[in-house]
Amino acid sequence: MEEKAFRDWLSAYTDADRCISAFHSQKRFFRVNTIKIDSKKFAETTKLRCVRSRYYDCAFELDEKEGFQIGRTWEYFLGLIYPQSLPSILDSLALAPTGKDIVLDVAASPGSKFSHMAMLMGNKGVLVANDRGEDKISALYATINRMNILNCVVTDLDGAKLPWKGRFTKILLDAPCSALGSGMAAAARWEPANSAKISNLQKRMLFSAYDALRPGGELVYSTCTYAREENEEVVANLLQNVKGARLVDIGLDIPHEPGLGDYGDEFRKCCRVYPHHLQSEGFFIAKIRKG
Ligand SMILES: C[S@@+](CC[C@H](N)C(=O)[O-])C[C@H]1O[C@@H](n2cnc3c(N)ncnc32)[C@H](O)[C@@H]1O
Repeated sequence: MEEKAFRDWLSAYTDADRCISAFHSQKRFFRVNTIKIDSKKFAETTKLRCVRSRYYDCAFELDEKEGFQIGRTWEYFLGLIYPQSLPSILDSLALAPTGKDIVLDVAASPGSKFSHMAMLMGNKGVLVANDRGEDKISALYATINRMNILNCVVTDLDGAKLPWKGRFTKILLDAPCSALGSGMAAAARWEPANSAKISNLQKRMLFSAYDALRPGGELVYSTCTYAREENEEVVANLLQNVKGARLVDIGLDIPHEPGLGDYGDEFRKCCRVYPHHLQSEGFFIAKIRKG
């Protein structure tokens, strides 16, 4: 879609001018892996020019003068850090898994949020990392080895046909999506019909994930896109078709816009983060509890 048409489409959701200009001035962030190093010690000893995010102790913003790729640093190779956008880091905090949980990450590769969850769990409990296909599974193993993750099992299953019923206390479904929050390149490749098409897969994955959740368990559904067909509509489809599923607050104190209220007031508990909120990627986060 051309930029003018995208701007018009986006203005139905947010301040499109602010959003698009923020796309062009996004900051680079990374997360410190406390499985390997304490974040205070990292801050005191690192040679990387960076500042700690005010939203989370383990998130750091790279100084703009650092021109290199963060994936080519010693800190990266040693598994001390994971390059990640700020909303992607905060996503796992919305699920807040602990070492007592049995957790499933339905679409885990390459493992940014999965490795963060392992860290939040103190490398304890059980963490199942699922994705599909050899390349995706290899990328997950690379993350597991680099970040020293010990509490995980890896599976290669269709996330829309998971074999588990009522097994997990917490589930993350960071769904495949049109990635419009990642920048203008994704918008240039995108047409609204793409969102309608992928919405179908997202709905099937969300049903399957919800089935795998224990009663009383919590599920975070997230995407890095804005289209309602991939966000509120997917969640509304679940809430309309299963008894006992309800939206709860995501519990993060961050700048955002609420979810679209035209799906019902409770959708205001969802979180739409646009690039102008955190000078980072755009994101959608919904948290669902199973009754
Ligand atoms: C947004 S990415 C996940 C990013 C990952 N959560 C992270 O933070 O590193 C979406 C993932 O969904 C996976 N995927 C797509 N279709 C799938 C399916 N039917 N079952 C399981 N995973 C699928 C893709 O391979 C891709 O890795």
